[in-house]
Amino acid sequence: MLLSPHALASTQLALDKGCYKCHGTPPKKNAPTFAELALRYAKHRGNAGAESTLVEKLRRGTFLGHIDAHERLSQEDAQRLVRWIIDGAR
Ligand code: HEC
Repeated sequence: MLLSPHALASTQLALDKGCYKCHGTPPKKNAPTFAELALRYAKHRGNAGAESTLVEKLRRGTFLGHIDAHERLSQEDAQRLVRWIIDGAR
């Protein structure tokens, strides 16, 4: 499948932010791959409310896990990466 320029730019952003260190193939420890996340998030496509909840959740972390790479993301970058995953990141 050919990637759109937009998807490529987001892949580059994910590389720059070190996301593939854990979410690449094979993933690190218990991190899901982006392909797995994309499958899980696909149902939220076109749902702006769900999208912003996912952005929130990513940046805030949960009581179980705080991941620096997640929490360091700006609102803008987090939004862009979450949308990229919803749209089928790999
Ligand atoms: C140090 C390893 C590590 C790095 C670096 C990392 N992640 Fe994660 N990520 C994880 C782990 C482990 C999980 C699963 C546990 C969790 O959700 O906290 C996860 C879960 C996620 C989830 C699913 C959250 C949910 O439950 O809905 C998303 C989305 C995500 N990461 C995106 C990213 C993005 C984007 C980057 C780059 C900015 C990134 N991650 C960098 C380890 C990492």
